[in-house]
Amino acid sequence: MSNLEVSIGNITFKNPIWVASGTFGYGTEAPDLIDVNKLGAIVTKSITREPREGNPPPRIVETPSGMINSIGLANIGVKKYIKEMLPIYEDLSTKIIMNIAGTDIDEYIEILELMENQSSSITGYEINISCPNVNKGGMEFGIDCDMTAKLTEELRSRTDRLIIMKLSPNVSDIVSIGKASQDSGADAVSAINTVVGMSINANTGKSNIFTTYGGLSGPAIKPIGLAAVNKLYKDLSIPIIGMGGIVSSTDVAEYILAGSTSVQVGTANFRNPGTGEDLIDMIDTYVADSNWKSLVEMIGKVEIHN
Ligand SMILES: Cc1cc2nc3c(=O)[nH]c(=O)nc-3n(C[C@H](O)[C@H](O)[C@H](O)COP(=O)(O)O)c2cc1C
Repeated sequence: MSNLEVSIGNITFKNPIWVASGTFGYGTEAPDLIDVNKLGAIVTKSITREPREGNPPPRIVETPSGMINSIGLANIGVKKYIKEMLPIYEDLSTKIIMNIAGTDIDEYIEILELMENQSSSITGYEINISCPNVNKGGMEFGIDCDMTAKLTEELRSRTDRLIIMKLSPNVSDIVSIGKASQDSGADAVSAINTVVGMSINANTGKSNIFTTYGGLSGPAIKPIGLAAVNKLYKDLSIPIIGMGGIVSSTDVAEYILAGSTSVQVGTANFRNPGTGEDLIDMIDTYVADSNWKSLVEMIGKVEIHN
């Protein structure tokens, strides 16, 4: 296998293939199905201070080339997460990135502080400031530079672990939010979260999602993800972690060429939870068969016409 290692901050990941938040549980369910230790990293579903049931059903619907979800951050809450999941991580050799969501700055801080007071093997935090499926918090932060900066700064001052701010595509200027994250101490940004969408059943005349709007993901959003990553890459100096619609090694290559240092596989896990594992071997073959000496050499090297 060629050298697929990538670095973010002072951490080296064995490869750039991670699994995305909300599509791989807490990272503890899959070991029976696939060899999770091969993955570059597992990003957990968003964890909030209190347990959450999420939104009422229907909260998932298939769409052409993707799906819409309105899960609404269903999760067990940070205390149960600490008690039940952290011990399991001790037996895993892949890196765990905990995704945190909150309704206000204090909630994000409280969760991070609770985590920092534990001894645990987690590598870092992905901060969800881009969830389109909750009434309060979530995306409110990710559409506002000042709130993003304040939140990043507060979290940065409380941990030496990686901080990755997860950005929303549902903004007019994703680069300014990325810059606010970078200037306030984030180690990286990840992009993109889901794109606001709607699905209607013309036979019944009803919305297919209880909350009317949800988050579109899967191959349909790949072009939006690629553009976001490339714009961020051009203006930021911290690494970009790209996602949106990745199902094949070609998709991974495109995201790396656009400027991603690592990528995350999301919706594809619902069809095959082994997608990420398969892509590691496939991207290795892709690099070996190409004129590139390494994957790192490919980052941001898309040729543009001007
Ligand atoms: C069912 C589902 C649940 C998700 N839950 C979360 C979540 O809890 N936190 C988060 O930051 N992103 C969440 N996401 C967004 C994904 O992590 C990812 O950003 C998005 O789906 C784009 O990647 P994809 O097209 O490969 O799925 C969720 C996506 C799906 C499909």
